Amino acid sequence: MNFKEELKKYQEQINKELNTYVRKHKCEEEILNSAMEYSLMAGGKRLRAILIIATYKLFKEDAKKCMPYSVAIEMLHSFSLIHDDLPAIDNDDFRHGKPTNHKQFNEATAILAGDALFNNAYLVISQDLLKSEKTEDLPAKLKIFNELAQATDRMIAGEYVDTEFEGLSITEEQLQYIHDNKTAALLRFCVRAGAILADCEPQELEKVTQYANKIGLAFQIKDDILSEEGNEEILGKPVGNDKELEKCTYVSQYGLQGAKNILDKITKEAIKELEDFGEKAEFLKQLALYIQNRDK
Ligand code: IPE
Ligand code: IPE
Ligand code: MG
Ligand code: MG
Repeated sequence: MNFKEELKKYQEQINKELNTYVRKHKCEEEILNSAMEYSLMAGGKRLRAILIIATYKLFKEDAKKCMPYSVAIEMLHSFSLIHDDLPAIDNDDFRHGKPTNHKQFNEATAILAGDALFNNAYLVISQDLLKSEKTEDLPAKLKIFNELAQATDRMIAGEYVDTEFEGLSITEEQLQYIHDNKTAALLRFCVRAGAILADCEPQELEKVTQYANKIGLAFQIKDDILSEEGNEEILGKPVGNDKELEKCTYVSQYGLQGAKNILDKITKEAIKELEDFGEKAEFLKQLALYIQNRDK
């Protein structure tokens, strides 16, 4: 398996699908629609959408039924980034190498574009639920719907605590709480959604959830590291912004090397969680390494 090629194929597939949800018609709220498209199609890595599909494929082949959930999670994630960048939260001017939504449009438009993406995610899922009304998939899909709402609730709580704790000295547990909520919750949802859609066994769901907990935390630790020593051009978003806002991060808590050591340890642990799945888990194992070593 060529990981880079597989990743690119997935990204293209998801971008193509997302494009079909972009509203391009003439109407009074045309600018709001283009603000939604601006951030949704800005060049994200699509890791959350990919996690749903790749986890599904641990168990079953044709991942078509993952698509509405992959679309929805990217909409929700895009909402979280637009609001995260707002002056009241992280006050960042660049993302994906372009002005952030409120810089490109204005604050009111960015707030509402975020709200609209948030709601559109649930719209996409509710449409899929309606279509599944008479199928045996419905209970699994309702469970996923509920887990998505719970994960989103955790992401928002994490964002709140992240903002509230700026400049404070916090415990290791509090720091892990921020990261587990603001970032790991959505990634954990993705892995679980793929597994639940594929109707896996409870012990298998437990295993992939453990993997997700680890890569979820790893993902945010790496984000903390990149905010300290990343390359702004490659990252497409500011470097040094965590320090400027005195954010509580793994780098502020453990130092740069300390954060890297923890990242290395939990990446190895994540890969170990997939041991029982053999060859089929190769992509997800490589994905954990990609999260550790990414430069954007
Ligand atoms: C950035 O997420 C926000 C965090 C949770 C750290 P990503 O790095 O996955 O964002 P995109 O979608 O690829 O830009
Ligand atoms: C991102 O947190 C988490 C969410 C947006 C939910 P950060 O503020 O650390 O992420 P970046 O660095 O702005 O992407
Ligand atoms: Mg933030
Ligand atoms: Mg931010």
